[in-house]
Amino acid sequence: MFIGLDLGTSGVRALLVDDAGKAVHSAEAALTVAHPHPGWSEQDPADWVAAATATLRQLRNDKPDEMARLRGIGLSGHMHGATLLDEGGEVLRPCLLWNDTRSHEQAQQFDALPGMREISGNIVFPGFTAPKVAWVAENEPDVFAQVANVLLPKDYLSYWLTGRMVSDMSDSAGTSWLDVGARAWSPELLAATGMRADQMPDLAEGSDVVGPLRSDLAADLGLPEGVQVVAGGGDNAASACGVGALAEGDGFVSLGTSGVLLAARDGFAPRAESAVHTFCHAIPDTWYQMGVILSATDSLNWLSRVTGVGAAELTRELGDTITKPGTLRFLPYLSGERTPHNDSAVRGAFVGLDIAMERTDMTRAVVEGVSFALRDSLEALRLTGADLSRVLAIGGGARSRYWVELLATVLNMPVDLPEQGDFGAALGAARLAICGVTGAAPSDVMTKPPIAETIAPRADLSAAYDDAYAAFAASYPTLKAMP
Ligand code: XUL
Repeated sequence: MFIGLDLGTSGVRALLVDDAGKAVHSAEAALTVAHPHPGWSEQDPADWVAAATATLRQLRNDKPDEMARLRGIGLSGHMHGATLLDEGGEVLRPCLLWNDTRSHEQAQQFDALPGMREISGNIVFPGFTAPKVAWVAENEPDVFAQVANVLLPKDYLSYWLTGRMVSDMSDSAGTSWLDVGARAWSPELLAATGMRADQMPDLAEGSDVVGPLRSDLAADLGLPEGVQVVAGGGDNAASACGVGALAEGDGFVSLGTSGVLLAARDGFAPRAESAVHTFCHAIPDTWYQMGVILSATDSLNWLSRVTGVGAAELTRELGDTITKPGTLRFLPYLSGERTPHNDSAVRGAFVGLDIAMERTDMTRAVVEGVSFALRDSLEALRLTGADLSRVLAIGGGARSRYWVELLATVLNMPVDLPEQGDFGAALGAARLAICGVTGAAPSDVMTKPPIAETIAPRADLSAAYDDAYAAFAASYPTLKAMP
């Protein structure tokens, strides 16, 4: 038995799988995000530990026999967060998350450093780790002076589980401190951003064992001795492992809090200026590229909050099949945007509101706006040479058939819906644990899921959606020019 422990932005999920990687049971515990100021986004690492503990205890209670045979735990988690620890391993301040954009000035400065884009393979986005630590150095110097180690969110859970500070390549690639082509910390980038190598965790591949579960913790959680903790991956790399996206041409679209369009790549082919992310995969000698939009289901959740109607109910009101696009446009830049704009200052908008419009017009505009933003990512990915001709849809938003048909039409490619539930990143983490503990080859373990349904683009509507996409794309410069 193995567990994939996924630290998501909105909650922790622990997925129990058997030795063949088949899901047996899962447990979830919710997390909240604090936004103390506009652009700020924080979580307390103690809440991650509490949520992880709750999920592991629930699995132990629900499946005691299976949990007695637990051999490994693999990790996955939201990327880029800066978890700052003092010399005693204590957390110094709440973690600044991936969608926290307060460090946009530091990001701009680092992005202009000689060698930065070439070595890290990426733009330094404000959400990445290095500029966030620089923000702390400038604004909270007393905290920064005590920073002995910086850990990524899932690696803090690994530290809690094992007492060891280790990070995997896929997550470390999002720090702006890694030489992403060489899969090693870059002494040059560390020095240029005011950090030291001894503040970094040891590096491992995602399928490497970090160490055994601490025996006091095993006793406390009622878990067997000798469970191995495996490094795992950043959530997108882990999701790719979960859906078997390992080779050139494989990809997925994820409708989670953030939206991601990901393509696995055989080699390291960065093109930073496209605002596409080029990161190490969680398995050796492999990379991937992705466009990231900051507010996907977050946009729908925002509409849900202001209308007082649940997100699932909002999409249910749209029905199952699309008609021609609405005239209302929504630009989903509620927290700024990464791909393709790299613009942390821009904010979202509705354009074209009419007195006759209803709530459903707004919901439709929101899901269309998110889909058009993912089309922007597809165009950017194409500039890097990544070519996708079909994708798998994962994440909470993929439960809306309307949204999936819309995506298929806007991206103009078939979208596959996996048969088994939405296990993406947690399943990938469990698969990495299987590889780490048993030595099995990733290609044998990380197979593609059976497809429940393939949703084809609506040929009768594609010209209309192309026009609507063009109108969407033309709105950004106007929005950017606004004071
Ligand atoms: C990727 C990114 C997000 C987070 C949260 O670069 O910032 O996808 O990993 O899921």
